[in-house]
Amino acid sequence: MKTVFIYSSDKGYVSAWGEKLAKKYGEGFTALDIKKGIPPAEIENFDTVILASSIHAGSAGKKIRNFCRLNIQLLEKKNIILVLAGLEEKEYGQYFENTFPMALLERAAGKLWIGGRFDPDQHNFFIRMIMKKIKGQSGGIFSEKWDTVDEALKLLDLMK
Ligand SMILES: Cc1cc2nc3c(=O)[nH]c(=O)nc-3n(C[C@H](O)[C@H](O)[C@H](O)COP(=O)(O)O)c2cc1C
Repeated sequence: MKTVFIYSSDKGYVSAWGEKLAKKYGEGFTALDIKKGIPPAEIENFDTVILASSIHAGSAGKKIRNFCRLNIQLLEKKNIILVLAGLEEKEYGQYFENTFPMALLERAAGKLWIGGRFDPDQHNFFIRMIMKKIKGQSGGIFSEKWDTVDEALKLLDLMK
């Protein structure tokens, strides 16, 4: 079974999560960065599509949202797993609804909330200040849910 991981990652958590999954999955796994542009024809040959994005200011990347919308007919023919990353766990249901078209939400074999991380060293002063205000704490926040990689793997196994 051929699987493509289409991702939008700002500071590397979503892409690192995808790399872990790729290592465990083995052959037949391709990762494509939405920021580099993905011609729809490129995903024709895959059986399974994993769509993954981090959330910023309440929203997933515009490119991934547009990609889903514009290629809905193609995506409806695939096995689908949806993945979102962020630090506001209580909001994740809303984030899934805001990011993915209803047809994909209904069709998805899994919707995985993979947590997130905020490493202050990767951000400028203003972002650090905003984060401190929102979260009420300074410094790093490391809420990665690495066990969701195994959850994804189990879902992929069921599709084989
Ligand atoms: C400026 C900024 C805004 C963010 N806004 C949200 C948000 O609205 N909701 C949320 O759950 N997480 C939010 N986050 C947390 C990110 O989703 C989290 O850091 C994630 O791990 C980033 O993944 P990436 O490195 O793959 O982009 C925000 C992070 C930053 C830096």
